[in-house]
Amino acid sequence: MLKESWTLVEEHQEKVAGYFYARIFLSHPDLRELFPVHMDVQRSRLLNAIVTAVQTLDDPEKFDEYLKALGRDHKKFHVEPEHYEVVGGALIEAMRAHAGEQWGVEYDQAWADAYAVIAARMLAGADADDNPPYWYAEVVAHERRAQDIAVFTVQPMQPLEFRAGQYLSLECPKYQPRLWRTYSVANAPRKDNTLEFHVRSVGAGWVSSALVRRLQIGDMIKLAAPMGTMNLDRRSTRDVVFIAGGTGLAPIKSLLEELTRYNRTRWVHVFIGARDREDLYDLADLNRLAARYPWLSVVEACSEDPTFPGEQGNISEVVAKYGPWNNHDFFVSGSGAMVKSTLKTLAELQVPSIRIKYDSFTDLP
Ligand SMILES: Cc1cc2nc3c(=O)[nH]c(=O)nc-3n(C[C@H](O)[C@H](O)[C@H](O)COP(=O)(O)OP(=O)(O)OC[C@H]3O[C@@H](n4cnc5c(N)ncnc54)[C@H](O)[C@@H]3O)c2cc1C
Ligand code: HEM
Repeated sequence: MLKESWTLVEEHQEKVAGYFYARIFLSHPDLRELFPVHMDVQRSRLLNAIVTAVQTLDDPEKFDEYLKALGRDHKKFHVEPEHYEVVGGALIEAMRAHAGEQWGVEYDQAWADAYAVIAARMLAGADADDNPPYWYAEVVAHERRAQDIAVFTVQPMQPLEFRAGQYLSLECPKYQPRLWRTYSVANAPRKDNTLEFHVRSVGAGWVSSALVRRLQIGDMIKLAAPMGTMNLDRRSTRDVVFIAGGTGLAPIKSLLEELTRYNRTRWVHVFIGARDREDLYDLADLNRLAARYPWLSVVEACSEDPTFPGEQGNISEVVAKYGPWNNHDFFVSGSGAMVKSTLKTLAELQVPSIRIKYDSFTDLP
């Protein structure tokens, strides 16, 4: 019934979104402050997110963990329990207003029931979480490593626990208030609590360009609770292959740093790909690590730099030239396109998918 009723309004999605937000902000003007300054409907995440959640979560039990995490994550947006009712009501009214005569009370009920189940799980997740909604952190170092790449370090004001390989979402209130984006931590947990990030500014990207071009030492940013499961299994005895594209190196560096603390027995191969040599922004450090740890090898490749002296081509093609890779743990990180082509190559090389962990910075194409 949820899917059937959505088809009545699907064509008018933009209008539904406009009405939905207008409804919320007119009845509760204070809620406007929770949302980004620029909110063209195309980019409005919340409505699309709720509709997708309500329609795909046929079995809320199965998505329990996801919904709890989403509820925890909403603390950073300053969402309070009473807001759920306002948003749920606006959603149903917006659909009803645009669906025409075919809309029936049974649809109202179906959406209200599904929304209530999801909201309850999100609220339970938020309630059970002891973490603060976010941490403030001060920028203590910022280095431009290439035209559009920066490496920077922040010092959280309170300790922020995470595991190597995780990412967290970040807001830069001074330059892009209320826009949160996820970035991978590029180091393993340290005694001084500092966190390093590698960011590439993408095209017209709001947050990434502020982080690369505007962020300065002394600025404060906000960080939300860490997420992600691309972690090392310390019990595994298999050798390790890390495959990174561009700033996809960040979580790989974190895992590598963790390995430098205990590894003696596992061979570790890092494959790092970029368009041109300028984008291989961290090669000096990787080579320093390779010189220091005999178990580590680094292969670098450029896909659009014919005079580059290392490997040529996409990183997935380069990985296929090496090997054999039949008894290794794989970690893959980079853009959706890079991750997708690497997973395809690994499947062709008959690497069991259970041995592959990956983080994709954009949706898989
Ligand atoms: C789990 C995870 C970890 C991530 N870790 C990192 C990291 O360590 N370092 C890092 O630099 N980024 C990382 N990202 C990407 C990051 O979250 C943002 O998506 C990226 O910085 C763009 O945000 P923006 O606000 O600048 O762009 P937006 O304003 O959101 O987007 C602007 C335009 O750029 C397009 N776009 C968005 N992202 C990309 C992209 N990556 N490549 C090409 N086009 C894009 C959008 O479709 C849009 O058209 C990670 C993403 C995920 C999901
Ligand atoms: C069923 C209930 C809800 C679901 C499934 C849901 C889901 C989501 C998802 C998946 C996102 C995108 C997160 C991201 O990109 O990091 C999001 C963003 C957001 N949500 Fe919710 N949400 C719900 C309820 C609410 C409520 C009640 C509020 C309160 C006003 C709220 C406020 C926000 C805000 C402010 C954002 C960021 C918007 C932006 O960046 O444009 N959400 N939501």
